[in-house]
Amino acid sequence: MCGLVMRLLQRTLSSGKSGLHRTMRIPDKLATLADYGILQEVVRPLMSGKEAEVYLVVAGGAYRVAKIYKDAVHRTFKNRAEYTEGRRVRNSRDQRAITKRSTRGRAQEEEAWRSAEADIIHRLYAAGVRVPIPHHFIDGVLLMELILDARGQPAPRLADVALSPQEAVAIHARLLREVVRMLCAGVVHGDLSEFNVLLSGDGPVIIDFPQSVDPAHNQNARKLLVRDVGNLHTYVSRFARDFPRRPYAEEMWELYQANMLAPDTVLTGVYRPETRMGGTASVESLIRDANRDEQRRRKSLGLAPGAAAATMEEPSPPRLSKYAEKKAAMARKAAEEAAQARAAAPRPPSPPSRPTAERPVESRGASGRSRRRR
Ligand SMILES: Nc1ncnc2c1ncn2[C@@H]1O[C@H](COP(=O)(O)OP(=O)(O)O)[C@@H](O)[C@H]1O
Ligand SMILES: [Mg+2]
Repeated sequence: MCGLVMRLLQRTLSSGKSGLHRTMRIPDKLATLADYGILQEVVRPLMSGKEAEVYLVVAGGAYRVAKIYKDAVHRTFKNRAEYTEGRRVRNSRDQRAITKRSTRGRAQEEEAWRSAEADIIHRLYAAGVRVPIPHHFIDGVLLMELILDARGQPAPRLADVALSPQEAVAIHARLLREVVRMLCAGVVHGDLSEFNVLLSGDGPVIIDFPQSVDPAHNQNARKLLVRDVGNLHTYVSRFARDFPRRPYAEEMWELYQANMLAPDTVLTGVYRPETRMGGTASVESLIRDANRDEQRRRKSLGLAPGAAAATMEEPSPPRLSKYAEKKAAMARKAAEEAAQARAAAPRPPSPPSRPTAERPVESRGASGRSRRRR
């Protein structure tokens, strides 16, 4: 039956306009998938990037993409530690080995890096982000949907296409919405650029996630988000000159931190840093954040839950992690500054405004996915 499907598929595709079909010897790294009967043919290499070799294959009677991660020595990704910070593996023995950087630990870390993309892509797909549909992750190979362009050919990268200013602006808006959705799902891409976006027949599709970070656990997340969004701006302004640079990343980060970012949040492009710490509510939210992060850290290390890490009144106890300490210190400083500002300024006639007065806060709060719930 499978053979019949295959022959039909092959005939359709090789006789048709697509011209996709030729086959090659199955590379060793794809042998396990072939042995399991998941993969039937390898058509051709699609691309060899800085991190992986990507093959066009036939699996389950359909064209798919098989991504094979290169060994650490052949990869060129810089500053890996910046991305892996805060990542933890489920087995605590493996985690200890990774922390100690023993041989076993390095092998575990390598495995964790390879499986990170499969985990993230599943998470994003479930959250409704337009990513390639993940099918299998076996033996270090990710098998996923082949993204096609409008002519039924493997989709080009944004870097390889020329766009009209209107198209570029529309793609930028769509990608920004995807970045918001990703952040709501707990993912900052970390290497977002025209090289990691494919232009499918129905719009842009973000790919390539092994370096992505979880903003709840990685202190570099904000910086990476700002860089990702900046890259999108640089790209679009190549086609749409004078396209204004707006602080979208800062705005979405602020909303995210305040648990007010929802997948359908429409960004305004307005962000006022001075309002960031302005209200008691945002200070309390920072303190809650610090406490929650600390409890999470203790749980993941198998330690008993500690007392509240920070309060508005008291200095934090010494058992805090460096990260929680930093956040608690920021919160206390902000509280002091806010109190000083309040003492200095005449009282406004109306209640203090929330930091995002011009945004539709209620709709976000109602449908928003709270970080605390993840
Ligand atoms: N799902 C896919 N559909 C079509 N082409 C893909 C897909 N995934 C990757 N590719 C192609 O393979 C290239 C490299 O993939 P990528 O995931 O970016 O790996 P790398 O880490 O090596 O950059 C992409 O630029 C794209 O051309
Ligand atoms: Mg790439």
